[in-house]
Amino acid sequence: MISEMASNILSMLLASMALSLLPTGSAEEQDLSLGYYSKTCPNAEAIVFEEAAKVIKVAPSLAGPLLRLHFHDCFVRGCDGSVLLNSTKGNVAEKDAYPNLSLRGYGVIDRVKAKLEKTCPGVVSCADILALVARDVVVLSKGPYWPVPTGRRDGFVSMANETKQLPPFTANITTLISVFASKGLSVKDLVVLSGGHTIGISHCSSFNDRLYNFTGKATPTDIDPTLDKYYLAKLRTICKPNDAVTFVEMDPGSFRTFDTGYYKLVAKSRGVFHSDEALLQHPLTKAYVLSHAGASESEFFKDFGDSMINMGNVGVLTGSAGEVRKKCAVVN
Ligand code: HEM
Repeated sequence: MISEMASNILSMLLASMALSLLPTGSAEEQDLSLGYYSKTCPNAEAIVFEEAAKVIKVAPSLAGPLLRLHFHDCFVRGCDGSVLLNSTKGNVAEKDAYPNLSLRGYGVIDRVKAKLEKTCPGVVSCADILALVARDVVVLSKGPYWPVPTGRRDGFVSMANETKQLPPFTANITTLISVFASKGLSVKDLVVLSGGHTIGISHCSSFNDRLYNFTGKATPTDIDPTLDKYYLAKLRTICKPNDAVTFVEMDPGSFRTFDTGYYKLVAKSRGVFHSDEALLQHPLTKAYVLSHAGASESEFFKDFGDSMINMGNVGVLTGSAGEVRKKCAVVN
């Protein structure tokens, strides 16, 4: 009798210990992991890299847009491939919202996806493809390599009005910090990831207010006083008022090379966006900009990989949540 009671108590204890070892979230929640596809699609990462390399060889200017796609995916509904979905009857998707009209590279993602579907159908998510391609284009632009945790699943929803969650180029430092914090990202992530502007281009329309109409008066002197005046004069020769077509290299002369050029520019008040200049308005971000303007690349490279991993974790769907799309632009 006593031994029966003891064994009942023991099994209750063991059961409660087992319960306390379960993760506190839903039973389906899982972390992303390295080598997630090692059994289900062992060549997934090699296939992604090979396709990315082919594209960048013929169209190096796509590196910037492909890095930016992952950022715009993660900041709206998490890194769930929602940025890739097409609008449907009755729903305007993220990609057709104003902040995303300058995104490019969707065709590259479709191409990589098609290759993967041939080798391992229905296995590799579009959200993971975005994360892997972002890493690979940085590597192909002579930037750092970082291991990309995978296992993201694709979402079902994409809504234009949710792109309000993206930081605007007019943002001041307070807004930037709070937008990043709302995604679980730190002030350091903000200044490090802004370094992504070392590659790529910007349309004049993304900073023309600083050149011609900073306070809404639109007088010849209505300029952003924080922008270096020589640089402002140069930008004015390229960008005319209301110019929506012309674009400039964000890191002139080295806009295809991933390096610390961005910090050198921002340190001289030559970042093109108000949000770049804003990094000089907070002690932490300012210190990072100034110390990396002259420093070797190694610390920035390490930081960039770490912060990309942080960004790649934002709001991910894992386990049985979401799906693995067959085509990235439409839900299955
Ligand atoms: C901190 C807040 C940010 C703001 C306000 C911002 C804003 C912008 C804007 C306005 C453009 C130019 C779009 C155009 O006119 O064509 C741009 C381009 C770009 N952004 Fe950002 N961005 C931010 C953060 C990031 C982050 C975190 C990344 C990646 C880690 C990133 C990567 C890029 C790249 C690579 C381009 C060049 C795209 C191309 O060549 O077409 N940005 N960004």
